Amino acid sequence: MSELSIIVPTFNEGGNLTALFHCLHRVLQDIDYEVVIVDDDSPDGTAAMGRSIAQSNARVRVLQRIGRRGLASAAVEGMLATSSPYLIVMDADLQHDEQIIPSMLEKLKSENLDIVVGSRNLSGGGMGEFTSNRLMLSTVGRRLSDAICKLPVTDPMSGFFLVTREYFHEVVHNLSNVGFKILVDLLASARRPVRLAEVPYTFRNRKQGESKLDILVGIEYLQLLLDKVTRGIFPVSYLMFGMVGSIGVICNLLLALLLVTSFHVAFKEAQVLGGLITIAINFLLNNHVTFRFARLRGVRMVLGLVLFYVFCSVGLLAQVTLANALQQVGFHWMAATLVGVVVGSVWNYSMAFLLVWHLKQRQNARLQLAYAEPARSRDLPTTKPHSGGHGRVRQIDALTGRRGVSGARQPSHVANP
Ligand code: GDD
Ligand code: MN
Repeated sequence: MSELSIIVPTFNEGGNLTALFHCLHRVLQDIDYEVVIVDDDSPDGTAAMGRSIAQSNARVRVLQRIGRRGLASAAVEGMLATSSPYLIVMDADLQHDEQIIPSMLEKLKSENLDIVVGSRNLSGGGMGEFTSNRLMLSTVGRRLSDAICKLPVTDPMSGFFLVTREYFHEVVHNLSNVGFKILVDLLASARRPVRLAEVPYTFRNRKQGESKLDILVGIEYLQLLLDKVTRGIFPVSYLMFGMVGSIGVICNLLLALLLVTSFHVAFKEAQVLGGLITIAINFLLNNHVTFRFARLRGVRMVLGLVLFYVFCSVGLLAQVTLANALQQVGFHWMAATLVGVVVGSVWNYSMAFLLVWHLKQRQNARLQLAYAEPARSRDLPTTKPHSGGHGRVRQIDALTGRRGVSGARQPSHVANP
């Protein structure tokens, strides 16, 4: 039985696999280890390449997820698929320095720790040749997690860490499982002080393939922090919906101002026009960010927008009516407005969730697919594997899987057909 499982999430990393296994083989001569590649059905055929390496290297396994995307959920499902007492998560692109793995393991064992983090911010480590933009993003991310989660670590953004199975299982059901920053999630999900140490390393340059870090990863990071702060009381997508709605309120004010002052539109018309444009902006933001995993396109997007208009109008009417009624029975105007806004936003969110983006329906279809006979399952709706990760399945991670691990909740063949 392996002592150490190395979990390597991959998306289009075919060009890096051989070199990665060579490097691991070189430094782990004295350790009984296994490698699990968790691939999200990469178009470049990373999974098939991994399987072909596995034919001649018994240490290697592939977990191929279809219709799914996400570094954090891939890492978590990879860890769940193993049984070794120690688990390492590392990238496939050789940016993480495998040479520190033996000292990380040694430290974890000798000091009886829960986690050892590969850190770029300790003396002896470094960011390598990060661009100034990337450096700034990393610093902002770190400051945010420092401020919000108060983590006892110099490099919470690190995607390279060693954790005991015991600790992992202690927190796994509290994980938000969103986005890239699995270490922040693992640390912020603890209900006790974490025994932790760091080992410095210098982040290397990527030689093959491309980074998958983009603006959405940044947004997912904010979602993760919000989820941690609120301890998962609200669905992550509701918080996002609320944020989009707040942006909408600001847009609405600015638009009304612009229409009245620059275009000399009458106040009442400016309100209506501003409102209509704002609802469209909200819809587009929700389609691209909040519900990106179920994004509507083409005609369905137009129909979705029309429906969104209808629901938001009803929501607004309910909000105003309720706020007025409360004020009349003696509520302070601010409290009355707040109750109105909350009720209106819950209504809008529920309708958007159920009827515009059809998330409940998609979730049921997916569960049906999970329990269906293999032959029947082909008839059920599923994701286009290479649609860039915005298929129908991912919302199950983001919505129902948020209080646990989607792979753990659903039968494993959903994730690993
Ligand atoms: N399965 C799966 N699914 N793997 C993914 C996905 C995904 O949706 N997105 C990225 N990966 C894999 C990549 O193939 C790579 O092996 C690893 O996750 C990291 O992705 P990169 O795109 O190379 O990220 P990065 O280099 O910009 O950032 C990494 O290093 C930072 C510093 O340690 C990540 O690990 C960050 O989380 C980390 O902060
Ligand atoms: Mn990388």
